[in-house]
Parts: sequence; structure tokens; C-alpha cells
Amino acid sequence: MLARAIAEVLVPREQITGASHVEADITDEKQMRRILEAERPDAVVNAAAFTDVDACETQEDLAFRVNAEGPGILALLCREFDIPLMHISTDYVFDGEKAEPYVEEDEARPLSVYGRSKLEGEREVQRHLDRSWIVRVCGVFGPYRNNFVSLVTELGKKGQPLRIVKDQMLAPTYTFDAAAGIGRILRRGPYGIYHLTNQGFTARIEFTKEILRQAGYENTPVLPISSEETKRPAPRPRNSQLENARLKREKMELLPPWQEAVGRYLKQLAAENR
Ligand SMILES: NC(=O)c1ccc[n+]([C@@H]2O[C@H](COP(=O)([O-])OP(=O)(O)OC[C@H]3O[C@@H](n4cnc5c(N)ncnc54)[C@H](OP(=O)(O)O)[C@@H]3O)[C@@H](O)[C@H]2O)c1
Repeated sequence: MLARAIAEVLVPREQITGASHVEADITDEKQMRRILEAERPDAVVNAAAFTDVDACETQEDLAFRVNAEGPGILALLCREFDIPLMHISTDYVFDGEKAEPYVEEDEARPLSVYGRSKLEGEREVQRHLDRSWIVRVCGVFGPYRNNFVSLVTELGKKGQPLRIVKDQMLAPTYTFDAAAGIGRILRRGPYGIYHLTNQGFTARIEFTKEILRQAGYENTPVLPISSEETKRPAPRPRNSQLENARLKREKMELLPPWQEAVGRYLKQLAAENR
């Protein structure tokens, strides 16, 4: 989802070579070496990951292979070819117990296999490569794959009551806005860790109501439940508020407010369904 948005948003200014899973398996050192040798890019962006958070609980080996070893392989190759690497990471590296939003320097303490594998991926990249950016995003929505906004809209259209957790805070992020921010960091951001989300924080249940309101399905019943009631295999952090402290410190442009981003995505969704 995010990789395609990055390719689309950056292509007017940059020359992009996008590679799908089939074309470029990040765990395959030989294949990645061949691609880097042929392309000799100015920078590599790794948005590949095993992102099924619940499946990671039972497929730990695969999670660590893709989310930790893969980025490590990329980082070593980038070091050899002297190419900077941007690695996309996640709010799930945090346990969500902090009372305030998380800044980049906060200690990561993941709750799930997915979170642990992603944190190990960050560490692999940092261990092998000085010229690297770690960009943590959160609550991502956008075209090319089902996501929270598209699912809520779909259920709203059917008028089905929604059961939504009332105890989870997040910073929703539109892939196209994140892609623009990624472009700016690639062009002038000093190396290191960045939190990159649309501006503003919200409870997931309020996020849901705002999606329904903007989509014109505000009469859809939304029933509050607790995180425990979802009975999902992987625990989720209750607090996924990522403060974009580094962007502010570097005086770089922040992403627009999430409510506005939802509006733009809903228009895109409506146009696709026409
Ligand atoms: N979605 C969110 O809410 C969210 C939140 C926080 C952080 N993130 C992070 O944002 C990044 C992008 O996520 P996304 O939402 O765009 O995920 P996505 O839509 O699931 O895309 C991940 C892509 O990685 C590919 N992939 C899996 N294993 C691979 C491998 N070994 N080599 C190469 N490609 C491989 C997948 O291909 P297949 O489908 O063929 O397996 C898929 O195309 C990830 O780093 C994720 O951890 C996402």
C-alpha cells in the first residue's frame, strides 16, 4: 500500500524504480545485489514487510526473516554500494503504556511478534549503516489494499453496526501524505529516526465516527468495546500517538491534519468506485 503511493507521489520529481515482492525479495541477498548493481540508485526505500500482525504471532520465523533479516541484508548491501537506505517502521515498536504521545527517542518495548520483528529490523539497519533513515508511520490508509477507512466505509454503506475499541489512541496516516513526507526526508532530512503521521491524534472510535460522518453514513451504530473483547491473537498498543518531534526540530513540513486526509482519501475511493 505505502510503496505504491511513494512511487506515485515521488515520480514527477524523482526517477523511481519500484519493485514488487516477486521482482525483489528483500530476504534474497543475490537478487537484491543484482538489482542494486544494475540500478545504482541514489537511495533505497524499503516499505516491504510481513504486515499481517496477527499472522506474525504464529509465523514468528517468517516475521523475523522478512521484518528483521531482510532489512539487515539491504543495509549491508547499501553499505557496500555506498547508498543511503530509508527503512519504514511502525508505532507497534512501542508498548502503548506511555501517557503522552511517543517521541522518536522513547524506549521501544514491543508487545507482539510483529512489533519485535520490526524493532529488530530498525536495529539491523542502524547496526550496519550510518546513512539510514528509520521512518515510523501509524494507522495507514490509502488505495491499493483494504484498510481501516475503506472497511469502515464499506460497512457503513451496508448499515451494519460496528464494534470498535474505545481504549486505543492513534495518529491516522494517509499513504499519499506520508509519501510526500518521505520525499522531503529523502531530499533533506538528516539521517536517524522520524515519526511521520498526519497531524492530530484520535481515539479509534472517534476516528471511525469521523470516517462515517464524512462518508455520509453517520447514522451507522458504533458500539464501544474494550481491546480485550476483540480477542485478537496479537496485542495492540493502547497508545499509538506518534509525536513528529524530529520533523518539528528539523523545521520540516508537517503532514496535514488527519481529518482532511480522510476527506481526500474518501473522494479518491468514491472516484474509484464510480
Ligand atoms: N498498514 C499500516 O497501518 C502500517 C502501520 C505502521 C507501519 N506500517 C509499515 O509501513 C510499511 C508498509 O506497509 P503497508 O501497509 O504498505 O503494507 P503492505 O500493503 O502489506 O505492503 C507490504 C508489501 O511487502 C511485500 N513483501 C512481503 N514480504 C516481502 C519480501 N520478502 N520481499 C519483498 N517484499 C515483500 C508484500 O508483498 P506480498 O503481499 O506479496 O507478501 C507487500 O506488497 C511496512 O514497513 C509496515 O510495517 C504499516
